[in-house]
Amino acid sequence: MTTPFDLTPSDQACGATVRGLDLAQPLAAATVAALRAAWLEHGVLAFPDQAMDDDDLERFTRYFGPFGDDPFIAPIPGREHVIAVSRRADEQAPLFAENWHTDWSFQDTPPAGTCLLGITIPPSGGDTLFADQRAAWASLPPALRERLRPLRAIHSARGGYAPEGLYGEADRAGDRSMAIRPSAEALATRVHPLVREHPETGVELLYGCLGYIIGFEGMAEAEALELLLEMLDWQTREAVQYRHQWQPGTLLMWDNRSVLHRATGGYEGHDRLLHRTTIGAAP
Ligand code: SIN
Repeated sequence: MTTPFDLTPSDQACGATVRGLDLAQPLAAATVAALRAAWLEHGVLAFPDQAMDDDDLERFTRYFGPFGDDPFIAPIPGREHVIAVSRRADEQAPLFAENWHTDWSFQDTPPAGTCLLGITIPPSGGDTLFADQRAAWASLPPALRERLRPLRAIHSARGGYAPEGLYGEADRAGDRSMAIRPSAEALATRVHPLVREHPETGVELLYGCLGYIIGFEGMAEAEALELLLEMLDWQTREAVQYRHQWQPGTLLMWDNRSVLHRATGGYEGHDRLLHRTTIGAAP
């Protein structure tokens, strides 16, 4: 069977570009199935040159699962499931999402994926970095793998979204353009296995990293921090990365179960706006 689009893998650790589809139009079931397979394989898919509005973005998202629950960030007016990742040219607040993470890993059932549509893109800077956690796991020395394999990681949003967190009350009083809503609910913790099989592909990988992971069950805080820092180094080496350089009209979708990501700066004096939806885990 021929694939109903052109797919070009990046020359980096993960990521691929898809051409030949108009995402402002409904997609056939066979096309969605082929996209799902490509998404699982490459971790990140980029669809350049799309003329999509928020209806198209929502329709595309729903091909891959239910909408995920987005805590701590208000949706844009008139939409329940679209949030704006935005920064004004003159904004002084710390960059949003600059630390490595996988989206909402502190939830009971964290999301399968995220879609991000580039709307206003600065002339340079503002790339999004990804790190493939299948490759990171495979690259670990055997002794470290055996140490990590039984660990149960404690995840929490407290460092970001609690009232005292990075995006907490002090940040809200500043000039942040994003509609972040800190809450004491961010103090909650959830435990997930650190090493797990991808729920769809069965590939073994590391899930989550320092940031939303705040410790390990049964391990002292200082030891856990040292281990998380050592892991983060392995998890984000250049050899496991993909750097996405944005253009307006590019839609990106990534698999939160197999890649970490982070935002980058370097576009002071320019606005940046992207619309984001979350693909929930399949029921
Ligand atoms: C995000 O983590 O959703 C934002 C990524 C970015 O702004 O590049």
